[in-house]
Amino acid sequence: MVEKSMVLIKPDGVERNLIGNIISCYEDNGLKVVQLKLMKATREIAEKHYSQHKGKDFYEELITFITRSPLCAIILQGEDVVEQVRRINGATSPDDAEEGTIRHRYARSKTENCVHASDTLESAKAEINLWFPELG
Ligand code: CMP
Repeated sequence: MVEKSMVLIKPDGVERNLIGNIISCYEDNGLKVVQLKLMKATREIAEKHYSQHKGKDFYEELITFITRSPLCAIILQGEDVVEQVRRINGATSPDDAEEGTIRHRYARSKTENCVHASDTLESAKAEINLWFPELG
């Protein structure tokens, strides 16, 4: 079934001029960009986005990182899009990410790992509402 997922190209990816290369990875796999914007995340939106990580030892580092400079928020559409995007991104840590994945190619650490993607269709809907409230 054709569904939507949400991706963030995180500040490290934007700072390092990787937007085009990263989007190509999705497009080359048949996924379609249906919304895209550059924005600097506020602390408020970052805290909502990462609410399940509140209290973890890496939480403050994560919030500081995701709010430090503009990120690129994208809605992708395609067949089995949530699973496809997670496969294309690779594992959270570049040390664990498979060859050919975005994180294997570009990520520098668990925090500066270039991309975020929704992990379920349910979270995709919530994340689209959070990052693209104007579509509601
Ligand atoms: P993301 O897919 O954006 O969702 C949660 C983020 O937390 C994850 O990518 C990583 O960037 C970050 N993260 C997860 N585990 C750790 C960790 N152990 N140390 C630092 N950052 C982490």
